[in-house]
Amino acid sequence: MFPSSLSVLLLALGLALAACDQSPRFQAAEPGEALSAGAATVRRSDLNAYSLPSANLSAARRVDFSVGNSFFRNPWVIAPSTTTARDGLGPLFNTNACQNCHIRDGRGQPPEPGASHAVSMLVRLSVPPSDATAEAVRQMGFAPEPVYGMQLQDMAIPGVVPEGRVRVEYDALPVSFADGYTVELRKPRLQISQLGYGPLHPQVRLSARIAPPMIGLGLLEAIPEEAILANARAQAAGPGAIKGRPNWVHDDQTGTTALGRFGWKAGQPSLDQQNAHAFAGDLGITSSLHPVDDCTAAQADCRAAANGNQSAEEPFEVSDNIRRLVLFYSRNLGVPARRGEEQAQVLKGKGLFHEAGCQACHVPHYRTRADAAEPELANQLIRPYTDLLLHDMGPGLADAHTEFDARGQDWRTPPLWGIGLSETVNPRGRYLHDGRARNLLEAVLWHGGEADAARQRVLAFDADERAALLAFLESL
Ligand code: HEC
Ligand code: HEC
Repeated sequence: MFPSSLSVLLLALGLALAACDQSPRFQAAEPGEALSAGAATVRRSDLNAYSLPSANLSAARRVDFSVGNSFFRNPWVIAPSTTTARDGLGPLFNTNACQNCHIRDGRGQPPEPGASHAVSMLVRLSVPPSDATAEAVRQMGFAPEPVYGMQLQDMAIPGVVPEGRVRVEYDALPVSFADGYTVELRKPRLQISQLGYGPLHPQVRLSARIAPPMIGLGLLEAIPEEAILANARAQAAGPGAIKGRPNWVHDDQTGTTALGRFGWKAGQPSLDQQNAHAFAGDLGITSSLHPVDDCTAAQADCRAAANGNQSAEEPFEVSDNIRRLVLFYSRNLGVPARRGEEQAQVLKGKGLFHEAGCQACHVPHYRTRADAAEPELANQLIRPYTDLLLHDMGPGLADAHTEFDARGQDWRTPPLWGIGLSETVNPRGRYLHDGRARNLLEAVLWHGGEADAARQRVLAFDADERAALLAFLESL
C-alpha cells in the first residue's frame, strides 16, 4: 500500500471515529450490562419481578427477608387487639398495609377520574413557613397544615372522622412531534372534598405522590455520598442548563443534616427513616424513630384514641425488631435483569438516550460502597440510571410544596432500572410523581426546565427513533 492511500484511509477512519464521538453509537451490549444490580440482580420478568430477594442473599438471610415481607404485606389492625405485634393502625391512616400502595412492590396509581378514594397515592399538606413553624421546618422540611398535619389521611378508625377525600380530574394537553405525530398528555387537577375538620388553610400547598417501586433501594443507599456530590459538581461545571443539587435534609436519629436520597423530592436520608415516616404517616403506626402519629392539636378524637401494643419494654406500635426486619426487606428487593440489551433496536435507543442528554441526570452506573449496610449490597457495579439530585423540572410538573432544599418545581431524578417491567407488575401503575403519565413516552414529554433540551430533542425524533428509545427504556 502507498503511503498516500494509507493516509487517506487513516483520515477516513478518523472522520468515522469523530462522527461516532458526536453521537454515541452502541454496537454491542457492555460486559455484564444485563445485571442492573450486579450480583443482587434477579432473573424474573413476570408479575412478581419486583418481589424477589437480592439474588446474592443466602438461604438463612432469606428468612429475615420473608419475615420483613410479611410485615410489609399483611394488614395492620386496630388496637386493642390480640395480634399485638401488628396492632395500632390509625387513628388516622391512608391504608392498612405498605403493599396496598407499593403494589406487588411496584408503583402505585392515582385514583381514576371520578373515583373518590386514593389508594396508592397520598397528598402531602403544607403552608408557607413562618417564625412559628421554624422548628417543624427544620425537622420535616416544611410547615404542616395546622389542622390536618403533614398529609391527608382519608381513612380513620371507628369513632374518628377521616380527614377528607381526594379526587383527580385531568385537562387534556396535546403535544406534537416534528413529524406531526401527536400525543395527548393529561394535566391533573386535585380536588379535596368531605373535609372532616373544617376548611383547609387558605394558603395550603398540596403535593400528590404515587408510591414508587421498592426495588434496589438498599443499593441506592449504598452509593457513596461522594459520587452523588460529584454528579452535582460535574453538572455545575458543564455548559448546559442541567444543574442538579443535593437535598440536605434532617436526620432524625442524629439530629444533624444529611444527604436526602428517598422520596420524590429526596426528603429522606435513609430507608430506616423513610420507613418510620411511612409507618407513622401512612398507617398511623408509631415507632421509637417516629413516636407520634400525624394527629394535630385540633384533632382531639385522634389524640384520645387507644395506642397499640403499649408495654414498658415496647412502648411503640412497631417494635424496633419489626422495624429492623422491614428495613432488611426494603433494602433487599432485587432489581430484575435487563431483557434484550443486545438487540439492535435497543442499542439504537441507548444511543438516542445519550444523544438526547438523558444520561446527564439518569446517570447510568456506580460502584456501591465497600462498607454498605449489608455485605450483599457492597462493592456492586450497579446501573440505576439516576444522579439522586434535585432538578428544576419546570412549571408543568411543579407543585407549591417545598421540602428542605427542594422547591415546588424540583424533583429528584428517579432511577430507571426495572422500569420496563412496571406495567407487568402493576398494569394500572403510572409514571411521574403524581402518576399523571400513563406510559413512558408521556413521562418523557412532561420533562421541562433543566430537561427541556432533552425533551426538544425527543420531539425531533421520527417514528423509528421514538420506537427505539422506548425499546431501550422497556429493556431496563
Ligand atoms: C398511602 C400509600 C403508601 C403506603 C401505605 C406506604 N407508602 Fe411508601 N411511599 C408512598 C409514597 C407516595 C412515597 C413517596 C414519598 C415521597 O415522595 O415523599 C413512598 C416512598 C417510600 C419509600 C422510598 C422509595 C424511593 O424510591 O424513594 C420507601 C422505602 C417506602 N415508601 C416504604 C414504605 C413502607 C415500609 C411502608 C409501610 C410501613 C410504606 N412505604 C407504606 C406511598 C405509600
Ligand atoms: C434534568 C434532569 C433530567 C433529564 C435530562 C432527563 N430526566 Fe427523566 N426525569 C427527571 C426527573 C427529575 C424525573 C421525575 C419528575 C417527576 O416525577 O415529576 C424524571 C422522570 C423520568 C421518567 C419517569 C420515571 C418514573 O419513575 O415515573 C422517565 C421514564 C424518564 N425520566 C426518562 C427520561 C428520558 C428518556 C430522558 C431523555 C430524553 C430524560 N428522562 C431526561 C430528570 C431528568
